[in-house]
Amino acid sequence: MYPIWEVPHLSAGIVLALIATFHILPSHLSVGAMWINVYIETKAYRESRPDLLEFVKKYTLLLLVFAYVFGSLSGVGIWYAATVANPRGISGLIHNYVWGWATEWVFFIVEVTGIFIYYYTLGKVDRRTHLKIGWIFAVTSWITMVIITGILSFMLSPGKWPETGGFFDGFFNQTYWPQLFLRTAVMFAISATYAVAVATRLKNDEAKRLVIRTASQWGFAGLLIASGALFWYLKALPEASIGLMGMIVPQGLKNGIFAAWGAMLAYFLFARLKPLSIKLVPAIAAIMVLFIGIWSTERTREMIRKPYVISSYLYSNQVIGKDIAPKGVKAEIARINKEGILRVSPFVPDGLREITDGNRLQAGRMIALIECSACHVLDKTGLRPLPQMVKKLNLTDAAVAGNILTALGGFPYMPPFAGTEAEKAALAAFLVSLNK
Ligand code: HEC
Repeated sequence: MYPIWEVPHLSAGIVLALIATFHILPSHLSVGAMWINVYIETKAYRESRPDLLEFVKKYTLLLLVFAYVFGSLSGVGIWYAATVANPRGISGLIHNYVWGWATEWVFFIVEVTGIFIYYYTLGKVDRRTHLKIGWIFAVTSWITMVIITGILSFMLSPGKWPETGGFFDGFFNQTYWPQLFLRTAVMFAISATYAVAVATRLKNDEAKRLVIRTASQWGFAGLLIASGALFWYLKALPEASIGLMGMIVPQGLKNGIFAAWGAMLAYFLFARLKPLSIKLVPAIAAIMVLFIGIWSTERTREMIRKPYVISSYLYSNQVIGKDIAPKGVKAEIARINKEGILRVSPFVPDGLREITDGNRLQAGRMIALIECSACHVLDKTGLRPLPQMVKKLNLTDAAVAGNILTALGGFPYMPPFAGTEAEKAALAAFLVSLNK
């Protein structure tokens, strides 16, 4: 076990979610943009329209700077944030999928060098070669998504992996194909939104009209296909996740998904009909709308995985919930119940390992940090604040609070309490002290 990263009012998870949501824009742009770009470039050559190359150049520069500078920074940001927010979760993924990531990074290197080659050879090598570079980039960048989606979907639905421990048993799980399909459709919508924004900066009206029309068609089609894929994805979800969808996913998030989806469809339709009336400011507003839609979708995906960070294996609070026999991994609840969480966790201040009358509340707070803070901040405001939860149940009696802790694993979205009876009493006393 590792130290806890406490982020007051926000929680470590939300810091990670903010970085990850932002990252989806450049990452999906990086895998989708080149398909539109190569299409326009081919059109420019076939129809002798050099004016279209102005778009190709501008769009590639956006790709280079936004996707490969900000995308790479936020990608590394996800690694840092995830490593401190949930070290054991990341460790679990690395121990199973290190070769998946290694493979992804081979393609990633081709992609990162490819974008520079593509940008700086435009107009300097013959057209066929340049288009080939574009195609190589488009395909290799998409393959990075083909790989990463296996690891991401594994966290929600690990397939047969808990029984077999097999790499591909977890990789090609029940939600893999619908999620890959969904991300592929969405990447076209995201890339199209940026293409429209870039096209608003073109000097030539003819080029502007053509690019905005083309991009909005790609975006509209992408969103329609995405809605089919979303339906398929929902059907593939584990039963427990479908239950959580109705139980803990706030209506606001569901509204966010549908409102963003509807607004983007209307935007693409309008852009298709009146391409020259789209200006830069509304085009940027459309990117914000995308952000809201992505935030809502990704937060929902995180919530329906509760109480796990890796389903059927590791709880969000990093306690191992189940035996994974083929990997020699043992569930920890029984052991922690016997030895105590304050003794099993290495990063507990020495004075708190033994609970006394003098340190009971402090020890209770430490246990809450270790076992609850992945999903509840301890402050009065923020992510599911523990003081608000306690108020909701009007806990004033430590014995009642203790009973709730005993029953905690009965909530479909919370891991069971792990610890000795004395620790449970200390946490119960701390919870009651929050109800003021
Ligand atoms: C995996 C995430 C997760 C962890 C870890 C977790 N909780 Fe929760 N808890 C939730 C969710 C989700 C809710 C529902 C919140 C809501 O209704 O908005 C909740 C609700 C509660 C409630 C209100 C009960 C209700 O009516 O739903 C209490 C009390 C509570 N949690 C206490 C705790 C304590 C104490 C711990 C640590 C021992 C803990 N939780 C750990 C996710 C978690």
